[in-house]
Amino acid sequence: MTTRQHYRTGTPGTGTSTDDPAAAEAVFLDATRRLLEPLRIGPGDTVVDVGPGAGSATVALAHAVGEPGRVYAVDLDVAMLNATMEAARAADVAGRIHPVLHDIQDGAPPLPEPADAVWSSWCIHHARDWDVAARALVEMLRPGGRLCLAEGGLPARCLPWDIGIGRPGLETRLDEAHDRHFTQWFFGRVGVSRPARGWSEILHAAGLTDITCFTALVDLPAPLSAPAREVVLAELAARVRRAQPFLTAEDADTWARVLDPENSAWLGHRADLSLLTARTGFSGHRPDE
Ligand SMILES: C[S@@+](CC[C@H](N)C(=O)[O-])C[C@H]1O[C@@H](n2cnc3c(N)ncnc32)[C@H](O)[C@@H]1O
Repeated sequence: MTTRQHYRTGTPGTGTSTDDPAAAEAVFLDATRRLLEPLRIGPGDTVVDVGPGAGSATVALAHAVGEPGRVYAVDLDVAMLNATMEAARAADVAGRIHPVLHDIQDGAPPLPEPADAVWSSWCIHHARDWDVAARALVEMLRPGGRLCLAEGGLPARCLPWDIGIGRPGLETRLDEAHDRHFTQWFFGRVGVSRPARGWSEILHAAGLTDITCFTALVDLPAPLSAPAREVVLAELAARVRRAQPFLTAEDADTWARVLDPENSAWLGHRADLSLLTARTGFSGHRPDE
């Protein structure tokens, strides 16, 4: 089946927290670039980006492979593939990027060639079976090909411990509520398999070797730039929306006030918002045959 045929169908992904994934990815782009380094992409390489989102890493990969290289962008959501190709056109690298509509839960996509490198960030924790998804990532590699999986890391810290309304520690409790939401969502689906171990182990079982782990810090201190502040506010609003059923009534009320631009307590009025988080990449290679 060709890429064009794939385009006729598609499933809305679970990918984007906010309405503007490109803005969010821009805030994390420095960390993304550092996580891409172990892939040692060079001109002429063939690379796969699984779950490209708005395509910021896909575009960085397309620059790295140069004119003779190819990047396959694999996603189950046609809107994400469209966003990726829009970013590619804006960066003048669309000719090197091939969109492929495919659910990685179904195994490796039918690509015309094995990959020198596979990159996947914040995607496969959405899969119902992480082992199946990890095997699919490794399967796309040529012998000796390199993989980097960006998953895990730490939740973001954006607010001071005490913002002056509600009970201090509001953001820490949001983490807990959000984790409960994720757990309910994750196990609420048919055919889910409990991961029961960390990513290094999962990748090792999938056939990856020489696995190392690297964490990139995202450290944007207060005061935030206007674009970073917009992203922080949008991400907090999205997390609160998802975590809502697990928040106490008091915390739900506090969040409603601080996320309301009409309210004097709106977080957008504060100069002490920051963004501190960490993103982890697990990399290794497929053994030579
Ligand atoms: C949170 S976004 C991550 C975007 C980008 N990689 C980043 O690091 O910012 C997750 C992406 O993975 C895609 N995705 C989620 N589940 C998928 C699956 N089972 N197969 C393929 N793509 C999937 C979503 O549609 C979305 O584009």
